[in-house]
Amino acid sequence: MNAQDFKENYPQFQAPQQGQGLFISFEGIEGSGKSTQIQILSQYLNEQGYQTSVLREPGGTIFGEKLRDAILSSKESLSALAEAHLFASARAQLLHEKIIPKLKDPKNVILLDRYIDSSFAYQGVARGLGINEILRIHHTYPLCLFPHTTFYLAISPEDSLKRQEARGQERDYFESEKFQFTQKLFEGFEKCSEVFNQRIVKIDGNQTREDVSKQIKKTLSNRNLTP
Ligand code: TYD
Repeated sequence: MNAQDFKENYPQFQAPQQGQGLFISFEGIEGSGKSTQIQILSQYLNEQGYQTSVLREPGGTIFGEKLRDAILSSKESLSALAEAHLFASARAQLLHEKIIPKLKDPKNVILLDRYIDSSFAYQGVARGLGINEILRIHHTYPLCLFPHTTFYLAISPEDSLKRQEARGQERDYFESEKFQFTQKLFEGFEKCSEVFNQRIVKIDGNQTREDVSKQIKKTLSNRNLTP
């Protein structure tokens, strides 16, 4: 799969049309600083008069939070295909309940902590299902709704593990898998940023939070998405 194959074979994957709210997702391996950047951007956009909704995946709805618990606290190993469908199911509900209704108002901005690229990277690449299979699972509306822009905060697998250790984090279902898995995830997100190069903006996550945030705001303004 490359950018050209994607463009030719998957025309249904599109961002919301003009005149609707703004849809932005944040991606990256653990410790990349997504949630900090989401908070900073949310506050900035509120000051500009936008109404932001900060959501996370899996989760964001009552059903989605139940699935989140079921997946992340699972002690048995799930098949990659089962996982991919569970995440897609929580996503479909989030789109139906929260994202699509909010997008009707152009003053609304959805800031989403993980979305479809996490499925490409985790289930598609790291767990080996393939990017095509993830696209296939998402081929009908609304699962084929892409964000206007995705910020991929890139840090190395080594830095990810160091940052997790520094936080003294407990290991959940995914975190208990080893360094090689983080390495594959990193490769997965890098692959996404090549295949979806129009949508994904890769930002060096090792910069200071102020510099990352400046780059995010500048990108939105250069793309004429915000003032
Ligand atoms: P979370 O604690 O929210 O991770 P983080 O703080 O790194 O965002 O847990 C979500 C986990 O679910 C995370 O390990 C990534 C994984 N995931 C997938 O495997 N596929 C998906 O489609 C999504 C949305 C998340």
